[in-house]
Amino acid sequence: MKMVFLGPPGAGKGTLSSLASKRLGLPHISTGDLFREAVRRETELGKKVKGIMAEGKLVPDELTIALVSERLAAPDTASGWILDGFPRTIPQAEALQAIEPVDLVVDFDVGDELILMRLTGRRVCGSCGKIYHVATMPPKVEGVCDVCGKPLTTRPDDREEAIRTRLAAYREQTQPLIAWYGEQGIIESIDGSGSPETVYGLFAGALARHHS
Ligand code: AP5
Ligand code: MG
Ligand code: ZN
Repeated sequence: MKMVFLGPPGAGKGTLSSLASKRLGLPHISTGDLFREAVRRETELGKKVKGIMAEGKLVPDELTIALVSERLAAPDTASGWILDGFPRTIPQAEALQAIEPVDLVVDFDVGDELILMRLTGRRVCGSCGKIYHVATMPPKVEGVCDVCGKPLTTRPDDREEAIRTRLAAYREQTQPLIAWYGEQGIIESIDGSGSPETVYGLFAGALARHHS
């Protein structure tokens, strides 16, 4: 099954991808995570994208498409994947279509107020990438990752100004994909505002409907 998780920043794409990846045995491919890893490792790509990401703007299509093409060539992608945060523009969607057509696009629908609450309270593990929220999904020990014991951090793009830029980028460049995939009849919009298990249930329903 080849799936794309689409939705505004903070919609819960990463959280749901982790759950779905474990339960369905599919690799979770997040372009945001791949870019953040490049920034951490200070690679050539990392140097190019660091400032763009901190501001909350989209990385140019050529760089993003090259990154995904390379990742989708890895052997673990043979039985499918969950793409989280890619494609985010029409040219990226066209490029993906040419590499590997998508079976199902899941659009997570979440209102602006909840997005702000989710992003301002998010903490991430700087080592293993696990996602927390100070109010809704706190770690057992404040500021420490449950999985690896490393300190939790705040993403540089979770500042108010960068959040505004990310929301604008989503509306202008990414939201048109909903109609684009709609024309192909492969998109399912689900309410992303409930608990992770509630949202997972809606996702599982969409998956079943799509299969039948
Ligand atoms: P990316 O990392 O993809 O960021 P994003 O799209 O802004 O989305 P987020 O990761 O912020 O949110 P999410 O939907 O994953 O929510 P999460 O599960 O963490 O991209 C970052 C940057 O990289 C971009 O701005 C751009 O610069 C670049 N980039 C990446 N892909 C690109 C592309 N294709 N093209 C160009 N540039 C690209 O949840 C958020 C919070 O809510 C967490 O605290 C979580 O614990 C909590 N939460 C989640 N779900 C629930 C729930 N159901 N109930 C309660 N709390 C919840
Ligand atoms: Mg994410
Ligand atoms: Zn960790």
